[in-house]
Formats: sequence, C-alpha cells, structure tokens
Amino acid sequence: MAALSLYLLLTWIFLLSLFRTRFADVLCHADESSALMEFKRSFRTNMTDSRCVYPKVHSWSLDGSGDCCSWDGVECDEVTGRVIALDLSSSCLSGTMSPNTTLFRLVHVKSLNLAFNSFNFSSIPYGFSNLSKLQYLNLSSSEFSGEIPHDILQLSKLVSLDLSTSSYETLHMPNMGDFVRNLTGLKELDLSSVSLLSPLPPILVNISSLTLLRLESCGLNGDFPVDIFQLPNLEVLHVSGNSNLSVFFPKPHRGSPLKSLRLYRTNVSGEIPASIGNLSLLNSLDIGYCYFSGLIPSSMGNLSHLTELFLDGNNLQGQIPVSFANLTQLSELWLSYNNLSGDSLEWVVNLTKLTVLRISGNRLSGGFPSSFENLKHLTTLDLSHNNLHGDILGALRNLKDLESLNLESLNLNGVLDVNDLFTLKNLRYLFLSNNNISFTKSFINATTSKLTYLYLNSCNLTKFPQFIGYLSELEVLHLEHNRIQGTIPRWIWNNSKESLWRICLFDNLLTGFENNQTNLPLPNLNYLDISSNLLETTLPVPPPSVMVYNISINFLSGEVPTSICEARSLTVLDLSNNALNGTLPPCLGSIGPLILLNLATNKFDGMIPRFYPNGCALRMIDLRENRLSGIVPRSLGNCGMLEYLNLGDNQINDTFPFWLSELAYLKVIGLRSNNFHGPIESHLSQLNFTNLHILDISNNSFNGEFPSNLLKSCHVMKVMVGQAELEYLNIYKLLHRFNVSFSISTTYAMKLMNKGTKRKYAKIPDVLVAIDLSNNKFEGFIPDLTGNLKSLRVLNLSNNFFIGSIPPSLANLTVLESLDLSWNNLSGEIPQQLASLTFLSVFKISHNHLSGPIPRGTQFDTFGSSSFAMNDGLCGSPLPNKCTNGENAPPSSSHFKVDNEEECLFDLDWRIVLVGDGVGFLVGIVLENLIIDEKSMWFLHYSKKMAKGWKKVRKALIDKKICS
Ligand SMILES: *[C@@H]1O[C@H](CO)[C@@H](O)[C@H](O)[C@H]1NC(C)=O
Ligand SMILES: *[C@@H]1O[C@H](CO)[C@@H](O)[C@H](O)[C@H]1NC(C)=O
Ligand SMILES: *[C@@H]1O[C@H](CO)[C@@H](O)[C@H](O)[C@H]1NC(C)=O
Ligand SMILES: *[C@@H]1O[C@H](CO)[C@@H](O)[C@H](O)[C@H]1NC(C)=O
Repeated sequence: MAALSLYLLLTWIFLLSLFRTRFADVLCHADESSALMEFKRSFRTNMTDSRCVYPKVHSWSLDGSGDCCSWDGVECDEVTGRVIALDLSSSCLSGTMSPNTTLFRLVHVKSLNLAFNSFNFSSIPYGFSNLSKLQYLNLSSSEFSGEIPHDILQLSKLVSLDLSTSSYETLHMPNMGDFVRNLTGLKELDLSSVSLLSPLPPILVNISSLTLLRLESCGLNGDFPVDIFQLPNLEVLHVSGNSNLSVFFPKPHRGSPLKSLRLYRTNVSGEIPASIGNLSLLNSLDIGYCYFSGLIPSSMGNLSHLTELFLDGNNLQGQIPVSFANLTQLSELWLSYNNLSGDSLEWVVNLTKLTVLRISGNRLSGGFPSSFENLKHLTTLDLSHNNLHGDILGALRNLKDLESLNLESLNLNGVLDVNDLFTLKNLRYLFLSNNNISFTKSFINATTSKLTYLYLNSCNLTKFPQFIGYLSELEVLHLEHNRIQGTIPRWIWNNSKESLWRICLFDNLLTGFENNQTNLPLPNLNYLDISSNLLETTLPVPPPSVMVYNISINFLSGEVPTSICEARSLTVLDLSNNALNGTLPPCLGSIGPLILLNLATNKFDGMIPRFYPNGCALRMIDLRENRLSGIVPRSLGNCGMLEYLNLGDNQINDTFPFWLSELAYLKVIGLRSNNFHGPIESHLSQLNFTNLHILDISNNSFNGEFPSNLLKSCHVMKVMVGQAELEYLNIYKLLHRFNVSFSISTTYAMKLMNKGTKRKYAKIPDVLVAIDLSNNKFEGFIPDLTGNLKSLRVLNLSNNFFIGSIPPSLANLTVLESLDLSWNNLSGEIPQQLASLTFLSVFKISHNHLSGPIPRGTQFDTFGSSSFAMNDGLCGSPLPNKCTNGENAPPSSSHFKVDNEEECLFDLDWRIVLVGDGVGFLVGIVLENLIIDEKSMWFLHYSKKMAKGWKKVRKALIDKKICS
C-alpha cells in the first residue's frame, strides 16, 4: 500500500517535471515577438519623464532565444505560448503611436496596460477591435488626444477600461451612451478628465456588474441618474469636478457596498441626509464645495471605517457633532470654509490617526484643547480664520511629524515662545499672518529647524524677529504689512543665504540697510518686494537671479546702474515713486523676459532706452512723470505684447507715434503733457487701434483736424460689453522657478483728467473708456462719428479750436459720465437729446459761442452755471437770463421723465438690470458726483433686497425728480 502510494507519488513528480520542461520549451511565436520588437522600435525611452519608473523594453531583444515570453512586461499563455498580457505602464515610452501599430497583431492579448507613458498627444489608434479577447485595457495618463475610437466599444469582453488622462480636454468621447451600450460586463470604468460634455447616459444603470465608476472633471451636465447610487456592486463612485452636474443626494439604504464616494465641486445642495450613516462600509467621502447647508448629521459618527472625510467649502452650520470622536480611523478631516460654530474641539483628540486636520474659515471659538499632543501623526494642521485662543503652540509641542501649521487670523495676542516652534522638528510651513504677536528673544536649538516658508505678514511686528536669523532652510519670508522700523539687518539671512528665494518686506517703516550696504548677498533670490517703506538710500542692486523686483514708493536717490541688466531673468521691475535721477541704462529695453517696466514718478532725464529686441515681452511700460526727452523709440514696435504705454508728463518732442498701431493688444496710450506736435488726422495709411480703451494725448501741441481715422479704428470703444463683475486692466502671469510656480498679478494705474480734476486710478476698470484731446491745437468740426464710440465714459475736447455745433449723436454715448467741450469755438444750440444721458455727471461747455435754451431734466438740473458760462446766448436755468419764448425748452424725451408709475417701474427694472450687469455698480466707482453715487447706492441696495426695497427706491427717485 505504502509502496503503491510512493510509486504514484514518484510518477506524479515525474509527470510534473516533464510538464515543466515542456512549458519552459514553449517559446513565444515569432510573429508576436516581431510585433513587439517593432512596437519597441517605434518609441524612444525618456528616462527624465516624470512618469518614468523603469524602461521594461530595454530587456527586449531577439538575440539568444529571442523568447518574448521572458521579456519584462510580457506574459504568455503557458500552454499556447501566445502573448496574453502586456504591461508597459510607467515604462518611459516616448513618441507618437502609429495608426497601424503592431500592437494590434497581438490578437490573443487579454490585458493591455500602457498607462503613464508619453505618446505625444497622438490619437488612440483605431483597431482595438482586433483584440477581441481584451478584458483589461488601461491607456491612462499617457498623453493621448483626439476622439476615442469607437471600435473600443466592440470589446464586449471588457471588464476594466481606464482611459483617464492627466491633461484635461485632450481626449473626447462624443456619445458616451453608444459607447457603453455593449460593454455590459464592465466592472471598472474610468474616464476621468475625458471631455464628455453631456449628461450621463441612463444606460449606465444597466451595468449591474460595475464596482468602480470614475468620471471626474468630464464636463458632465444635466441630472445625475440617481439609480447609479443603488447599483448593487458599486464600491467606488467618483464624479468630482463636474460643476454643471446636478446630483440629487439620495437617502442611502443599509447594506450599500459603497466604499468611496466623491462629489467634490458638483452641484448637490440641500442637507446631508441623516441616513448617510447607513453607508457603513464607506472609507472615503468627499462632498467638499457641493453647496450643502444645514447641520452635520450626528449619524456620520457611525461611519467608523472612514479614513478620509472632506466637508469643506459648504455652508454647514451648527456644531461639529461630538460623535466624530468615534471616527477613530480618520486620517484626513477637512471642515474648512463652512459656518461651523461651537467652542469645543475636545472630540478631535480621540482621532489619533489624523494626519491632516483643516478646520479653517469657520466660527469656532473657545479654548484650544491641551491634549492635542495625542495626535502624534499630524502633518498638517490648519486652524486659521477662527476665534480660538489658549496656548496653541504649547499644546502642539510634541507633534514631531507636523510639517504645516496655519494659525492665520486667529486673534492671537502676545509673545510666542520660539522654543515651542523649534520643538516641531519637521515644521516646514508656518503661517501666523494677521495676528497681534511678537516672539521671545532667547531660544535653543534653532539651527535644527526645517522652517522653509514663514508668513509673518500683518502681525503688528515692530522688529525683525531674532529667530529668523537662525533658520538655515528658509526659502520664503513674508514680513509685509508690519511696523518694522530702522535698517534691514544682515543677520536675518545669516544662515539661509543660499535657500532664500522670496522676500516680502513691503509696507513697513524701513529706512535703509545695515552699514549702508545695499548689495544683497542672496545668490538664489527670485522675488524681492521692499516697496512702500522709507528707504533713503541709493538703489540696492538685486542679485542676478532676481525675477521680480519691486522697490517702488520709497525715497531712493541716485542713478540706476547698468549692472541691473545682469538680471537676465528679470520679469518685473518697479522702481516707481522714488527720487532716482540720471539717464536710464540703455540696456533696460533688452532684458529678455521683462514684462513690466515701471519707472514712473522719478527724476530721470535723457532719452528713453532706444533698443527693444525682436520678441520683446514687455506688456507694461510706465515712464510718466520724469524729465525724459527725445523721441519715442521706434523699436518699441517690437514689443508685440504691449498693453500699456504711459509716457505722460515728460519732455518728449515727437510727432504722434502712428506705428503703435502695429501693437494689437495696446489698451492704454498716455502721452499727456509733453511736446508732441503735428497733425494726426492727415496720416494716410490705415490705422488699427482695435483694443484701445484709453487715449490721453492732452497738453501737447497736436494740431490739424479731429483724429477721426484713428478713433474709427478703436473697435473696443464702439461696443458695450456686459460684464458679470467689475474687472480691471491687469497683468497676470505664472512664473516658474525649479519646482515652484508663482503668479504675479498687478493692475495698471494712471492719472486721468476726469470731473475737471486729475484723478489717480490705482486700478483702471476694464469698462473705463476715455479720450482726452484737451489742451492741444485741434481745429475743425467735431465729427458725428464720435457718437459711435458707444462705450465712452470720459470725453474731453476742451481748450482746442473746434468750431461748428455739438453733434447730437453724442446722445448715443449712453454711459458717458464726463463731457468737456469748454474753451473752443463751438456755436449753435445744445442738442436737447443730451438730456437723455443719465450717467452724465460733468458737462462743461463754457467759453464757446453757443446759444439757445439749456436742456432741462435729469442730469442737466444738477450742473452749475459755471458749466455754461461765457457763451454768446445761452438761456434758462441755471443761468440767470430767461429764454425769450417762455421758460427753458420743454423737457425732451428724457428717459426718466415719465408720467405714470408703470413706466417708472419699467425704467427702474432696466436700471436694475444694469446694476446686475455690473455696469451700474461701476457708477459708484468711476463717478464722484454725489447724486449719481447716491442713486447707484439705492440701486445696489435695491438689487440686494429686490423684494423689500422697491417702494423706498421709488420714493427716493421721486424725491430726486427722476420719476414724476
Ligand atoms: C523627456 O521628458 C521631459 C519631461 O517630460 C521633457 O521635458 C523632455 O523634452 C523629454 N525628452 C524627449 C527627448 O522627449
Ligand atoms: C504604417 O503606415 C505607414 C504609412 O501610413 C507606413 O509607412 C508604415 O510602414 C506602417 N507601419 C507598419 C508597422 O505597418
Ligand atoms: C453591440 O452588441 C450587439 C449584440 O451583441 C451587436 O449586434 C452590435 O453590433 C454591437 N454594437 C457595436 C457597435 O458593436
Ligand atoms: C461612539 O460609539 C459608541 C459605540 O457605538 C457609542 O456608544 C457612543 O455613544 C458613540 N459616541 C458618540 C460620541 O457618539
């Protein structure tokens, strides 16, 4: 018996070994190995690609046995030797995928994974239907583009399909419904970031085998089919980032298999149902930024498997339920930016596995629990924008893993113990802005600190905190908006000379540099802002590494050394509002990346730098208020991106630079108060100032006729653009340094005559369209076409030699706020139609030869007599002389002079629409006239309180004689 069984066993072992040998002998088929080799040859490998892990194809070779079954990433059927699986994920492949790729010869393949390679945005080839046995297909994050070939939908054996991409909107799938109709056996479907741009096909509900459905950032819209929540096997449902997708959040039932649910930034709203506690298997829930309101149901404490919970950015109220103390598996908890209140955070201390806790932007108050030190794994803690108090730093003392701590805007008060900071050995990011604090002077062990980003802006500091000088890995230092006085000491960067790249010291009371040493020994500095201080030194020349340099609004004097041009990466240079003098270094125009050059309000003289290379990137040049002379350099025409050019208040002696017309983006031309001269209208060739918003050429010696041809080409001035929000002319740009990107953004500023005074616009509203030709020697008629510039808000033609009458077409300028035609030789009557200009708050026609009645009604009742003084024969209010045939002219077709209430109501609605459009809102910002301002305030008020306020508004308007 024993012998028999031994015999059987030996036979079995023999057979087994025979079998094995036979297997080892099964080589892959030549057609498949050559198909694979050809596939390999059609790509390069790029080891520096961030997705590259290991280039599996390097092991592929036809030398030796040439057995493809032994190649990395290739798996063969043990019996037939056919390639059944190919896994080339993260294999560093780079190059375009051929439409007739040899992959399609591997007709036995069941599993194909090409994820995380770089196929150069080539199309996914048509032909996958050849691979009819395919069950698993993964082409994710591999830089494919174009339409997904529809023959993939014939792969009826597919179990798992992943076409998700990392680059949004490169892949499209026009009709997802058709696509999934035949894929009835799917268990996993991931199309994240594929552009679907449609509602979800209800047919998905039929795929009952689905366990995973990921459709994040697909541009989905319409209603989310609520039955999808009930799919019997669905464990993962991720549809985040589809902001136009309306999701009705159902009441989950018990026994749901859902483990991970992500609805971040979809349109859900309503309250979180208490039955959410039924999703007992849930380990990840992201319903951030979903418009949820109401209370957080305490049943959420039942979700005991939760490891991640994101509820941030909703409108949740009330207290955080104490049942959260039961979520002991939580690793990340985000509750920021809600309306949560309450004064106890004690429940948190039970969550000992927490690594990330964010509760910023709520109304949490009360003392901070001292037992926070239980949270030993915490790496990120954000408590900012709350009302917490107590010894917060002390309570965090032993959190050795803490890397990022945000205590901004917590009303912290008093002296912080630097030793508490330094016990946080891994702390790299510290945000303490907007508190009222100072720091102890003595401490130990500072040099082991890893602090990298330090934000101490708006802390009411009067001195540089001592501990900064001991930090050795500091990269970013923010000390702006404090009251730090005296000189900038050199010890602050004692230990972090090499690492510091960004320093913000603006808006302090700094007067200079220690020992008057204005050189900055910081070889890697990219960003330096010391503007708005009291620096009374020569210009500190930044290190050549600097990209953004702002030292405006100080008392700097002396010249700008040529060495500033050694900063070959300089992108923003703002030296405005100082007392710098001398000539400008000629090299300033040729700093390659420079986009913003602001030298305004200094004492520079000599010529404007003459040379701007081809491809000059400048977008803003502000040289106003200096003593520059000479001509406008012709090579500025190379700065094709230029949007803003202000040379006002200098001594430039030139004719009009017509060639600026080549600059397609130019929005602002400021040439006021120089010695520009000559005619503009006589220029013969075609001009193109399509984008111009503001033309200020006042206070020069231009002559000839009204510049009609130039203004005819200003297309922006001819169209009224409705805007949802008030925007300002600005520059925004993302800059890159190694692995960090940072943005710069700034609004354009300028001074403009408006309302008869020079007004400083620190920001220029996008809708401010202005023409100032005043104080020149223009002559002839004001052409009718001026009435075509419909978006004009400011028109100043005063102090010229214009003759003829005021064109009635000016009544078409419905948003005009200021019209100055004074000091000309105009004659005839004031067009009565001008009374319809309801935004007009300044109207000046004094010192002309006008006659006849002054229009009555609306704005004209608010203009003083000086507006009309010194004419030949004007009559009627506000002038003392009455018109001979009766009173002033009868009211014209004034927009607001209406007789019955309905019409008045109608008008109001119209105005309110304007307010809603942001146009009316502007009135309060651009205008200073009291009556208009008050009116617009009423409108604003009204628009906010649509229901209540109408009667009040109407009464106010009747009081102001706007309605009768
Ligand atoms: C390799 O990848 C890096 C990173 O994506 C890219 O910058 C580089 O151009 C690629 N090299 C080649 C030869 O494609
Ligand atoms: C693919 O087609 C191109 C022409 O469209 C041809 O040059 C190339 O040889 C083909 N490659 C394969 C592998 O068949
Ligand atoms: C879908 O499947 C049906 C039935 O299996 C088949 O007749 C039809 O051709 C398939 N559609 C496509 C587009 O492959
Ligand atoms: C936590 O769970 C336990 C057991 O399920 C329960 O008795 C207790 O009330 C819960 N705690 C809170 C604060 O809800």
